[in-house]
Amino acid sequence: MVKILAISGSLRSNSSNTNILRSMMELAADRIELSIYDGMGELPHFNPELDDELAMATVRDWRTQLQAADGILFCTPEYAHGVPGSLKNALDWIVASGEFMHKLTAVISASPAPDGGAKANAALVQTLRVMMAEIADDSILCIPAVYNKFNDRAELTDLETERALMSLLASLVNEIDLQAIS
Ligand code: FNR
Repeated sequence: MVKILAISGSLRSNSSNTNILRSMMELAADRIELSIYDGMGELPHFNPELDDELAMATVRDWRTQLQAADGILFCTPEYAHGVPGSLKNALDWIVASGEFMHKLTAVISASPAPDGGAKANAALVQTLRVMMAEIADDSILCIPAVYNKFNDRAELTDLETERALMSLLASLVNEIDLQAIS
């Protein structure tokens, strides 16, 4: 079973980005175990002086969940043309510990805007690549006009988006398989 840890960049309860990840849990084939990380709101503000392994249960758990995953899947909104602060904070805790090193990763952004949060997506890809995550070109996706893709029960109704999400998931799993045999 391929294990994928999904991370939403939004803390909002009815987040469209989290809803995309929830629909991907349903789209995931039998051989994919996709879970959504739910600890981002509890992480302390990053301070290198507080990076004490014994003191930080939330940080340890974040790192452990990343280590245990075969692949990582982000889905994030864009705030003021950048990555949401809470997501950037979570990533800053990983710079020194290195859990993204050679980790196969996919990056989705979603927004009501026509470019689907492309600027946050590009910034997130850049940060993750600095941390040596491996992100294939077909593991990057921007979803525009996201509010039109769901019904009022937060179910994905747009077939084109569903196909794009399935294709991205297939590409990520393929990359994970290739890494495993190389
Ligand atoms: C936004 N939004 C937004 N959208 C965008 O495409 N580019 C942007 O720069 C911003 N900036 C921004 C700042 C702040 C503070 C908020 C609250 C919102 C709109 C954003 O895409 C929209 O609220 C999404 O619904 C947020 O994603 P979730 O929470 O639905 O996943």
